[in-house]
Amino acid sequence: MQPIADIRKEYKQETLNEKDIQPNAYAQFEKWWDEALKSGLDEVNAMTLATVNEDGTPAARIVLLKGYSPNGFVFYTNYNSNKAKHIDNSGKVALLFFWAPLERQIRITGSVSKVSEEESDTYFNSRPAGSKIGAWASPQSLPIFNREVIEENEKKYTEKFSDTAIIPRPPHWGGYIVKPTQIEFWQGRPSRLHDRILYSLQTDKSWKIERLAP
Ligand SMILES: Cc1cc2nc3c(=O)[nH]c(=O)nc-3n(C[C@H](O)[C@H](O)[C@H](O)COP(=O)(O)O)c2cc1C
Repeated sequence: MQPIADIRKEYKQETLNEKDIQPNAYAQFEKWWDEALKSGLDEVNAMTLATVNEDGTPAARIVLLKGYSPNGFVFYTNYNSNKAKHIDNSGKVALLFFWAPLERQIRITGSVSKVSEEESDTYFNSRPAGSKIGAWASPQSLPIFNREVIEENEKKYTEKFSDTAIIPRPPHWGGYIVKPTQIEFWQGRPSRLHDRILYSLQTDKSWKIERLAP
């Protein structure tokens, strides 16, 4: 069996040069996002969401990006979950995309707030019925005695909404929007001498652009 320490890959596909990048961090994200989509990457919108709890302990998990614009990056979750408690407490998060086939990483840090009720309703209404019931059935992040607990919940809410034309959005479920203060684009390069370009939001809303050592 191959020793873990021997697993390594040389990155050599692309470069990230100051002359080729966009002056606006969102425009640069859009460029890489379009390229990631075109490359047919599996779960391209899966991103790591990092939060910190009240005593400063970090936690990370995957969530799905459901939209982005110059206003920020949107994901959906349970407002009673652990991540939601961390968000309520700190108001700050980090997001991370790693697109291995493209040898690219994007790191985002910023402030986070709930999207409007209307925006959450619109997205919730676009979900398959099973996912809507799932949002009602799962007390996300809480310990449950066994799997039957959520299967029973699923049955209960399926029956409850069986003759309802529209399954309503649970009040404890909705979106968050992350407004970045920094976005870093990382392109793998040979010999671990990668390209890193950091965009930092300035008070006049322009982006300061710096190259970071790999
Ligand atoms: C590929 C993938 C996509 C996921 N997407 C979401 C999501 O969009 N929203 C969500 O709340 N949890 C999502 N999860 C589950 C989370 O990783 C996590 O288990 C859950 O949100 C509970 O996290 P918490 O207890 O830290 O709040 C996803 C997990 C995976 C592996």
